[in-house]
Amino acid sequence: MNDKVVSERVNALLAQMTPEEKAGQLCQFFSFTPNDVAITDEVAAGHVGSILVVRDPAELDRLQHVAVEQSRLGIPLLFGFDVIHGLRTIFPVPIAMAASWDMEIIEAGQVVAAAEARAIGLHWTFAPMVDIARDPRWGRMVEGAGEDPHLGSAVAAAQVRGFQGSAIGEAGRVISGPKHFAGYGAALGGRDYDEAEISDSELRNIYLPPFKAAIDAGAGNIMCAYMTLNGVPATGNHWLITDVLKREWGFTGFTVSDANSAYDLATHNFAKDSADAGVRALNAGLDMEMSLSVKSSCYASLPQSLAVGAVSENTLDDAVRRILAMKFRMGLFENPYVDQTQVNAVLGNPAHRVVAQEAAEKSFVLLRNENKALPLDRTKLGSIAVIGPLADSARDTLGPWVFDHDLAETVTVLQGITDKVGGEMQVAYSPGVTMIPRLNPSFFDALPGLQPAARVEVDDDAEILRAVELANASDCAILVLGEAQNMIGEAASRSSLDLPGRQQDLLEALIATGKPVILLLMSARPLDLKGAAPDAILNIWYPGTQGGAAVANTLFGDAVPGGKLPFNWVRSIGQVPLPYAHMKTHQPKERENRYWNEQGSASYPFGFGLSYATFAYDNLRVSKPVVALGEAITVSVDVTNTGSCAATEVAQLYIHQRYGSAARPVRELKGFKRLTLSPGETQTVEFVLTAKELTYWSAAVRDWVQDETIIDIMVGADSAATLSASFEVRAP
Ligand code: NOJ
Repeated sequence: MNDKVVSERVNALLAQMTPEEKAGQLCQFFSFTPNDVAITDEVAAGHVGSILVVRDPAELDRLQHVAVEQSRLGIPLLFGFDVIHGLRTIFPVPIAMAASWDMEIIEAGQVVAAAEARAIGLHWTFAPMVDIARDPRWGRMVEGAGEDPHLGSAVAAAQVRGFQGSAIGEAGRVISGPKHFAGYGAALGGRDYDEAEISDSELRNIYLPPFKAAIDAGAGNIMCAYMTLNGVPATGNHWLITDVLKREWGFTGFTVSDANSAYDLATHNFAKDSADAGVRALNAGLDMEMSLSVKSSCYASLPQSLAVGAVSENTLDDAVRRILAMKFRMGLFENPYVDQTQVNAVLGNPAHRVVAQEAAEKSFVLLRNENKALPLDRTKLGSIAVIGPLADSARDTLGPWVFDHDLAETVTVLQGITDKVGGEMQVAYSPGVTMIPRLNPSFFDALPGLQPAARVEVDDDAEILRAVELANASDCAILVLGEAQNMIGEAASRSSLDLPGRQQDLLEALIATGKPVILLLMSARPLDLKGAAPDAILNIWYPGTQGGAAVANTLFGDAVPGGKLPFNWVRSIGQVPLPYAHMKTHQPKERENRYWNEQGSASYPFGFGLSYATFAYDNLRVSKPVVALGEAITVSVDVTNTGSCAATEVAQLYIHQRYGSAARPVRELKGFKRLTLSPGETQTVEFVLTAKELTYWSAAVRDWVQDETIIDIMVGADSAATLSASFEVRAP
């Protein structure tokens, strides 16, 4: 449907609507119980534009029939939900997907998620989360792409393409709603929902670019954030939503609040009361309110606010237009119902599990591999001990933000290893220690069907001894440690990076056996192992439905790790925040000694990840020594696989500006390429740096600038790359 037809149909419909019906289109409600009479009545009265949480196709259809057949104008509902890393087929958590640095698999993963979501009748996902996260105390870093705006932008765009396809309304796809606009990841102290104080330079250069990239990729929706940004609540922030998003960026989709975040304008002591919160949010540019219940809705009172002139008809109409346009584009007026005959076939599609397994294999990051401890040689092993409280927990393997998964089909690490080599060697298991519960329970744990994994309660001291005996009696110990799935995610911030419970004791006891110890970390933040040094460390994140199968393939060399860290892996909590893209300052050579008690650098730098192969970088060159402002330059480098197996490497390009109108970070990622090389093979990688990559928001000029300067480039396997060259930028 072209723009002209959409706007004609929208205008024709709008002309028939009462203020109540207009306000109704702007209201989105949670619905937790089937056949809820209150919600049904509201839908029939034309007071509801959208519903979230319902996933039963029959219930979705029932509600849609009420909207289409019983409401005066028959406007269909838009059904939204959090389809974050899969619906039935669960993919690795988003930060893990980002660690693949593979935009094709990221897009493919969200194509699968969209297909499953659309099959059950959903139209819209509240994803991707594109918040930059630089403080690992913040639990929600698991949902994003890490600390870097360049990688974050690429990942954001790939996810939007996956969810939506090339245009809104494509068959089998859903509307994508990047969130949380904007700056949510900068929560003070890493405490979820706390205020964010972000300079305009950081906002423009770091926090906003992934949103812009998502919008450029066509995202139809944007969700506004909970917290105050520089003193103004994001959901009521006119500058953010109207000036930047809608005017400067020309966003034509619709905005939605976070759950009750419009009402929170009053919680923030910004709005006087609920009605005022509705007025302030709408006037700021918030089109739809996501509200926990009809009672807590601020937008329900918009008709009265219109009557007293607190909001204008134009403002109201603009918001309604944006939502109706989306419903027309999605084809809901022609095709409002679910094809229930297709649901099982789509959710059970075995091809979806294949993509999930490939994604998991690509996401693992090999942090340490002493004396080539990995891959394991299955011809030389007679027995393996699989140890740890997360080794056989299906629920934890999936990670947070899953609701429609199937635990029975989830492959745990123990299961994956047993399936692969159980027929040829002994595989023994011990939980090692108990996974401790959270001190403050998560509200997710109370949701129906979402109870955390039942914990195997063991006597930790006795079980550690048993695990040690098991390791001593085996040729190798595979240890699966980390955080349970409810220890990370929304409302799951943490003031420590230690392994919860007695896991550190278990780790140290096993290392002391002298047996080969392979540590698999199930986590989404940099955990502090306090210097413990097992033979190998593979970060497996929360790897999803096929996680254990992917792990087994990787352990035995049928998949080669090629993931790279999307954040600096700090040594300890005290270093936080420690972005790799920091400013250079006084005594730069002393940076390693800024703390007298430990090294200043990260344990593993941003972009880091080992392989079973090794790579050499050589022959770095730039296409010209001097470029004019606005002109592009090509950087090339030869990458050789110096190892003995075929493997994938992510070549990374960083820049540093020597001088200019404002100070710039010591290095910033501006390009990356994944390449697969056979042993001995060399490929030349080319990066094109355009004016876009050399332009930044200057805090001094208070605008975008490209300076006349000298740019240093560093190319290599991670953000500590040393191979460098430089070029000059001059006025033409
Ligand atoms: C609150 C979360 O902040 C947001 O990310 C999510 O989409 C909504 N709840 C709806 O579940």
